[in-house]
Amino acid sequence: MRYAWLAGITALWLFCLTECKPDDDGDVSCGGPDSLYTATPLTLAQPFKFPPIKIPEDNPLTQEGVLLGRMLFYDPVLSVDSTLSCAGCHKQEYAFSDGGKAFSQSVFGATKRNTPPIFNVLWMKNFFWDGRAHTLPLQVSDALRAEQDFSANVIIPRLEKRPEYVALFNKAFGKPCGITEEKIHKALSQFMMTLISADSKFDKVMRGQAVFTPSEYRGFYELFMKDTGAVNGYGADCFHCHANSSGASNLTMMDNNFHNNALQYAPTMNDFADKGRGAVTNNMLDNGLFRTPHIRNIEVTAPYMHNGQFNTLEEVIEFYNSGLKYSPTTDPQMKTVHRGGLQYLTAQDKADLVAFLKTLTDTAFLRNPAFSNPFK
Ligand code: HEC
Ligand code: HEC
Repeated sequence: MRYAWLAGITALWLFCLTECKPDDDGDVSCGGPDSLYTATPLTLAQPFKFPPIKIPEDNPLTQEGVLLGRMLFYDPVLSVDSTLSCAGCHKQEYAFSDGGKAFSQSVFGATKRNTPPIFNVLWMKNFFWDGRAHTLPLQVSDALRAEQDFSANVIIPRLEKRPEYVALFNKAFGKPCGITEEKIHKALSQFMMTLISADSKFDKVMRGQAVFTPSEYRGFYELFMKDTGAVNGYGADCFHCHANSSGASNLTMMDNNFHNNALQYAPTMNDFADKGRGAVTNNMLDNGLFRTPHIRNIEVTAPYMHNGQFNTLEEVIEFYNSGLKYSPTTDPQMKTVHRGGLQYLTAQDKADLVAFLKTLTDTAFLRNPAFSNPFK
């Protein structure tokens, strides 16, 4: 009898140990695989000739988690002044890039770089033009602060006032700890993991369900995928960076690497208008390097390059043909930089390259209702 109060306190303490542990080390107790009370697992279809889908162990996909992420992606509630959602800059019809704008408007003013598209993040090893985030949750945390001036103590109370969010957070990540910043990162990451683009004409051709026109065929096999000769050119030599080195066995069309493609003139390593990767690593040899951007859906992601300096694919091709600029960190694969570019592409070659690039447009992805604004 004397110890009843002690037993009571011990029980309460034990309960708290498992149920209301604060979000310090950030997982199981505050949402994660062990507290998926009612969430429904979701599996994604493996795209043809992509490396196997690997979902992070601490953030398994669930229908509720993905729906929550989709709502948060489209809801301006996450920005300090409730005006700007992720989708304010990342628009589905432009493969989640910002439709024709070189720079976007964040809550702080114009962005410093062009808004990239978002898809196939499951196969990406680095995020942002300079690769400063290497996981999706880190990327989300950076984007929330840099673009929307997110702070947990302002935004979370707002979400807590919306019963539909409280219910969904509970369903997706379990009740302990309520709505947390980590759960917001995880939900947004889950939604973005479902944004898979692998059903373009190019994919159908690779799967044997469609055929290239002669122009598209030349553009891909004779130009994009062919090397430049040391003396006399023949290919356009794009694949070294814009396709995986394992070639036809990996159709992601990404190398997950950083290069200087001779875009900026810089007499010395310190003269780059944007240092890109170098500002992240503090290694001068990385100055002027940027992550190879997506080439898929390129038809709808203009303007091009980290600073949006080209408006059309024709301008980009002409840049590789005759617009390369000197700088000390230029990639060794830009073999013709000494003469300002390939210089030998004919009008037909250029048209064929553009024709091929347009086969990478995935209209099913651009119109997939599962990725659209859930509030409409
Ligand atoms: C004001 C416009 C704007 C808003 C709002 C915005 N972004 Fe971005 N996003 C950008 C820009 C610009 C970059 C590139 C920044 C850089 O590389 O330095 C970017 C980069 C990204 C990337 C990396 C893509 C890649 O290829 O590396 C992802 C993913 C992303 N944003 C997701 C989000 C999410 C999720 C939100 C909402 C939480 C969001 N963004 C809000 C403009 C925006
Ligand atoms: C040495 C590696 C390399 C080679 C070779 C290369 N690229 Fe690029 N490409 C890049 C990088 C890096 C960027 C981004 C540069 C930046 O923004 O500063 C880029 C940007 C682009 C873009 C703009 C993408 C966007 O979303 O803004 C297109 C289109 C493109 N390249 C097409 C090609 C074509 C076509 C070829 C062959 C003629 C080619 N590239 C050869 C590395 C390369």
